[in-house]
Amino acid sequence: MSAQVLQGPGDYLERVDRADLLPRIARRVIAAPRSAGSSLDQLEAVLSGEPRLIQCVLGVAGTPLIGVRSHNDTLRRALWRLGSGARGVVAALALRGAGRGGPWGELLWRHSEATGWIARMLARYMRGVGTDELFVAGLLHELGLLLLLGLEPGATGAMLEAHGAESSSLIRAEIERWGFCHGRLSAECLRAWHLPPRAAELIEHHHCSVDQLRGLRGDLRPVAALQIADALATPLLSGAGVQELHRRLVQHPMGIHLHVPRGARIAVLGTLVEHRGELISPGPDPRGGDASGLAPGGSKPCSSADRIQGGAEPSS
Ligand SMILES: [Fe+2]
Ligand SMILES: [Fe+2]
Repeated sequence: MSAQVLQGPGDYLERVDRADLLPRIARRVIAAPRSAGSSLDQLEAVLSGEPRLIQCVLGVAGTPLIGVRSHNDTLRRALWRLGSGARGVVAALALRGAGRGGPWGELLWRHSEATGWIARMLARYMRGVGTDELFVAGLLHELGLLLLLGLEPGATGAMLEAHGAESSSLIRAEIERWGFCHGRLSAECLRAWHLPPRAAELIEHHHCSVDQLRGLRGDLRPVAALQIADALATPLLSGAGVQELHRRLVQHPMGIHLHVPRGARIAVLGTLVEHRGELISPGPDPRGGDASGLAPGGSKPCSSADRIQGGAEPSS
C-alpha cells in the first residue's frame, strides 16, 4: 500500500466536521456548556426531544451492571445514577453510529459497547480507578476507526478485511497510510470535545504492547483493564463462557498488571455472561431514520468474531 501521509489526526478531525459524520445529537451534547454545578440541567435540556437517546441513557443507568436494576427512573435520576461521568457516557452513547461505517461500523460499535462494560466492571475492583473513564474509554476506543471508515471507506474497509480490527498489522498499515493509528484519532476526538482526558489517554494506548507501555509512569491497571476488555469483548458477544473468558484474561500479556483478585474476576465475568443480552444499546436515531443500520432494542450475539479479530497476530 502506498504511503499517503499528508496530514495529522487534527486535520482528519476537521474533515470529520466537514463530512458531517457525527450524529446530530452527539454534536449537541459535545457543544453543550460544561459549567460545574449545572451539568445535569444542561444534559437534561440537550436530551429533551431525543426519546431514543433518553431510552439509551435510561437503559444504561437502569441495568444491574451499573448497580440496582431500575425500570422506572426519570431521566434526571438516571443521569444522577451515572454520576460525575454522566456527560462522557451520554456523549459516548450519542456518538453511536458516528462514521456511518456500514456492516463494519455495526460490528465495531457492538464490540466497543461490550468493551466499555467489561472495562467498567473490572474497574469496580480497582481502588482509585474511575469506572466512568474506563466505561467511556471502552465505548469510544474504536471511534477513530469508525470515522476513518466514514472518511475513506474503501481504504479503511480493505484494511479491516485484510487485518481485522485487533491486529498489530492493522496498526502498521494505518501508520503507513495515514501516519497515525485509529487510537490516536479517537483520543484526539475526545480531547477536542472535552471528554474525559484520562479516557483519551487510555484509548491512545489501547494497542500498545507491554514493551511500549513499560515507558509509561504510573498505574498500569487502567490500560490493562481496557486492553483486556478489548480482547474479551468479541468472545463475550459470541457466547464464550466464564471459564473461556477467564482463560483469555489470565493469558493476556497485560493480565499480570490488572491486579484484580481471582474471585472478583470470576464474579465480573459471571455477571457479564449473565447479562450479555443487555450489553448492546439501540443507539440514538441521528437523522430521523435508522442511519446507523441498527435494529432497535435488544442484542444479538455477534457471530463475526473472526472478522473483528482477523487472522493476524495479536496486537500486544
Ligand atoms: Fe482498536
Ligand atoms: Fe477494540
